[in-house]
Amino acid sequence: MIVHVFGDASQVAKAAASILSAQILRKPDSVLGLATGATPVATYERLVKLHKKGILDFSGVTTFNLDEYVGLPSDHQESYISFMKRHLFDQVNLKASYLPDGNAKDLAAECQRYEELITSTGGIDLQLLGIGSNGHIGFNEPGDNFVFGTNLTDLTQSTIEANKRFFDSADQVPRQAISMGIGTILSAQEILLLAMGKNKAEAVLGMVRGDITPKNPSSILKGHPRVTVLLDEDAASLL
Ligand code: F6R
Repeated sequence: MIVHVFGDASQVAKAAASILSAQILRKPDSVLGLATGATPVATYERLVKLHKKGILDFSGVTTFNLDEYVGLPSDHQESYISFMKRHLFDQVNLKASYLPDGNAKDLAAECQRYEELITSTGGIDLQLLGIGSNGHIGFNEPGDNFVFGTNLTDLTQSTIEANKRFFDSADQVPRQAISMGIGTILSAQEILLLAMGKNKAEAVLGMVRGDITPKNPSSILKGHPRVTVLLDEDAASLL
């Protein structure tokens, strides 16, 4: 795991956008794993700017998002498909982009379909991750074991509390999501994790210096050979 610390969040976004751009320029038919939430927004903004300037062509690029809420209408503005359309999909020329369908009738079958779809493209070249203040990656929440494949998961109270800022109240935050599993994430050739803010510092400490434990799911990333972590000073403050 290589850790870089930057002075502020905008420098993290700049470095992340450079790494993603280099990946696309090096391999125009890249398969990218993407994240939602506040963390990657400024990175996506930079990628969109590069595309609009004619520097970055996404026409060969396929994307798979980490997760989607269960039961939230896809046109709800906080569904992850809406988020991705707003911040990236509608603004660049991607070849294809996929998220799990959180409204599928058979959610277990949907998890399997999504996992197989990722495999059938040849797998993810570069996976972008944020981290929850409880150490979750995707919606792999702290627990007693690691879940391998794409799965239906219950959000923990701490995640519901953290995500209520996107909704009118905590009651409106969906209680379940479909998420890539730990194995799905670890299968990516390369992983890029971004974290900003003091509220991530403890989770980052566990990820970088702690033992591998499902109590902090991000800690498993130490077992992957190509992980780059970009932090601002606040997120790095306990290291
Ligand atoms: C989002 C995701 C989550 C977020 C994490 C951090 O697709 O899978 O793991 O990356 O909850 O969220 P923010 O960036 O809002 O702090």
